[in-house]
Amino acid sequence: MLLEGRNLVVTGASRGIGAATARLAAVHGARVVVNYLSSREAAEQVVAEITTNGGTAYAVQADATKRDDVERLAAVASEKLGTIDSLVLNAAVQFRIAPLVGYAWDDFSAKLNGEMQAAFFGLQSFVPAMLEQGNGSIVAVSSGLSKHPGEGFCAHSTAKAGLNALMRSAAAELAPQGIRVNTVAPGLTDTDATAFMPAERKQMMASITPLRRIAKPEDIAGVIVAMLSDLSRFEAGAYVPVDGGMTML
Ligand SMILES: NC(=O)c1ccc[n+]([C@@H]2O[C@H](COP(=O)([O-])OP(=O)(O)OC[C@H]3O[C@@H](n4cnc5c(N)ncnc54)[C@H](OP(=O)(O)O)[C@@H]3O)[C@@H](O)[C@H]2O)c1
Repeated sequence: MLLEGRNLVVTGASRGIGAATARLAAVHGARVVVNYLSSREAAEQVVAEITTNGGTAYAVQADATKRDDVERLAAVASEKLGTIDSLVLNAAVQFRIAPLVGYAWDDFSAKLNGEMQAAFFGLQSFVPAMLEQGNGSIVAVSSGLSKHPGEGFCAHSTAKAGLNALMRSAAAELAPQGIRVNTVAPGLTDTDATAFMPAERKQMMASITPLRRIAKPEDIAGVIVAMLSDLSRFEAGAYVPVDGGMTML
């Protein structure tokens, strides 16, 4: 039970990596708020799975890119669970995949803004209570693309690189006050976000990955839960790739 007694909020937890994280964290004893944008049924399904197994979870709608929504999310979460000591900034901010030349500035800046808003409002809404109690653990979900570019992914790569930098700044400021901030960077993971990708492309990625497959959401959730937990108590400002060994090549 790595997260016994913890009160956790996971943004974007109705599907994919966020849902797997909420489920696994609950198995490890965390009480969880499952945030979602519009998939109420999917979020309630995650909550039902957790509560059926004897855990505690609540679904709370909020747009992670809107300050008022995130402040409300923090208020509702602490009302339901008490002080929130653990946070996963995971919500998947949408973007267009297209070549840089010809990429519309509005699309590019919307992705950058959305990614920064979700992280910035998340930190500003949840950190004050963590500071008050003198401890907390935060994990942001970045992407391997933040360091290794992919064709058509200019907006996503740039936004996630900004996220890495913001999380390092937060980690440096907050570590002396007992709050650990770390970043987990998945490689290609089998979720709705990658469902558009042809099977041949996924197979090709699997074939060049040292562990010879692409990630499942549970692979990423395992590392997120470990980083949230005291197993990682001496980690702060870390960037942890979870990519089957791709980054060693
Ligand atoms: N899949 C990959 O290959 C991969 C690789 C590297 C990094 N990542 C990162 O991993 C994270 C999760 O991605 P995923 O693949 O698990 O995505 P996913 O399966 O498409 O799920 C996206 C989740 O984010 C929520 N969401 C989207 N916009 C939101 C908003 N504005 N406010 C609150 N929640 C919002 C969705 O809620 P609704 O269901 O309500 O829409 C859903 O729960 C993202 O940060 C993504 O960039 C993914």
